[in-house]
Amino acid sequence: MHRGKGMKFVGDSRVPAERKPNIPKDYSEFPGKTEAFWPNFLLKEWMVGAVFLIGYLCLTIAHPSPLERIADPTDTGYLPLPDWYFLFLYQLLKYSFASGPYNIIGAFIIPGIAFGALMLAPFIDRGPERRPAKRPFATGFMLLAIAAVFFLTWQSATQVDWKAREEQGKIREEVAIDKNSEGYKIMQEQTCLTCHGDNLQGGPAAPALTGIDLSPEEIANIAKNGKGNMPKGVFKGSDKELKTLSEFVGNLGKE
Ligand code: HEC
Repeated sequence: MHRGKGMKFVGDSRVPAERKPNIPKDYSEFPGKTEAFWPNFLLKEWMVGAVFLIGYLCLTIAHPSPLERIADPTDTGYLPLPDWYFLFLYQLLKYSFASGPYNIIGAFIIPGIAFGALMLAPFIDRGPERRPAKRPFATGFMLLAIAAVFFLTWQSATQVDWKAREEQGKIREEVAIDKNSEGYKIMQEQTCLTCHGDNLQGGPAAPALTGIDLSPEEIANIAKNGKGNMPKGVFKGSDKELKTLSEFVGNLGKE
């Protein structure tokens, strides 16, 4: 605190008379390369943190997480798939040298060697060199690992039928189905349920029939003439039964 001409008033011995910049002494090896943790360094950290936080917030709002319907342990038709960051491990288990009787190779040995090597890297690679070009083994193995992960993830992703997955996981409104109704019984007789499911919920062989946007006439036509992967001539009953059935399906979840 300076008051007056060249005079220093310091009543409290804990307050230094000279105001020094809030920078710690240089470490002798790194002159001029240090900075104060508080507030200089932390401020930088927080600014970067805020940028990422806001970025992630925008991303989650723009792309909500792709939630699927509630898991149903009795649904054996559901094909599970790991999240994208585990697809490479999942893909590994599809190769003949790492599956079936050799499952232990794909499940434990190969991943074990890769992650084990990563953990042991500080003990194996003990040189003082930090430039990647001067560490051919470490850099080479890392590039190899990255290439392998990319390749396996890509291989796995191309083998997935993403449209069918979206369909099987879709969140659908619960539709109450009257299993004693005439229409339901006709569907049972006409084998519709073997493909479309006992609750018309759909399955690996056919889509759900709840909440479809088709008129009874269109449904009757599909029942007789098929559509896409649905074969022709599934329905073999009378015209009256066909009418009851198509009205039953057309009215599902509409009352
Ligand atoms: C062999 C299995 C199988 C049987 C049996 C079957 N379906 Fe289908 N059904 C399918 C498949 C597969 C589709 C999807 C067709 C496509 O779009 O490629 C389908 C589609 C439909 C659709 C159109 C759904 C939509 O959203 O466009 C209706 C309606 C339908 N079926 C009604 C019936 C009725 C009624 C019966 C019984 C008479 C029946 N199905 C029996 C396999 C079957």
